Amino acid sequence: MSDTIRITIDQTTVQAAAGSTILQAAREAGISIPTICYHDHCTANGLCRICVVEVEGARTLQPACVVQIRDGMVIHTRSERVIRSRRTIFELLASTVDLSESPEIQAMIHEYHADVYRYPDAETRLPAVIDDNPMYIRDYAKCILCWRCVQVCAEDAQYTYAINFSGRGYETQISTFYEIPMPESTCVFCGQCVGVCPTGALKPKRQWLLEMGYTPDEIMNLTRSQRQRRKRREEISANPS
Ligand code: SF4
Ligand code: FES
Repeated sequence: MSDTIRITIDQTTVQAAAGSTILQAAREAGISIPTICYHDHCTANGLCRICVVEVEGARTLQPACVVQIRDGMVIHTRSERVIRSRRTIFELLASTVDLSESPEIQAMIHEYHADVYRYPDAETRLPAVIDDNPMYIRDYAKCILCWRCVQVCAEDAQYTYAINFSGRGYETQISTFYEIPMPESTCVFCGQCVGVCPTGALKPKRQWLLEMGYTPDEIMNLTRSQRQRRKRREEISANPS
């Protein structure tokens, strides 16, 4: 049996396994903390900050998905400061990202009474949809930069390293190296990135075309001809003469 330590969460003192994160300990105690970038099967990197909690004695709010519990820790998961911080994050996200296909985030925006119009002069990110392969499309207007896709493409699952961050600040986007088309990258089209994407930024090509009104036969023709073009490109580059 693992060692346990005593912590207090929202005025309730509980025993939790040593080495747990605040998020894990809270879940064990039946206390819910909202998350966005966190995924049970991905390495947590504390990127979105929606899971922040107040820890007595700590100067700043602490991301519950990465901070480990310490003996005697006193944690407040829904203090006024925590709620205000989460609400602001939702408002900033909504001001730049298309969250129309993120029902879980929308539900949280509603729960936290976030004002999605708080920053009317904010510049919405509107990169064009990238449709460069027969398997999936990339619509980074919907990307919240949670990094899940990068992680499953790397050490969390596939060890393929086809994608990573590119750009800085407002221009940051997930990209292949040198922004080459996906079929020319190391991508093996395993689909794991699509499976962990929480916002519809990555979507199976078939689903995307169905949503646009194409019939299954039309989709078959469209994606088949893309596959044929790709095969032809590979043949030419293998034998340029
Ligand atoms: S494409 Fe999806 S999984 Fe990847 S960083 Fe953006 S939102 Fe996250
Ligand atoms: S869920 Fe913890 S930082 Fe995103």
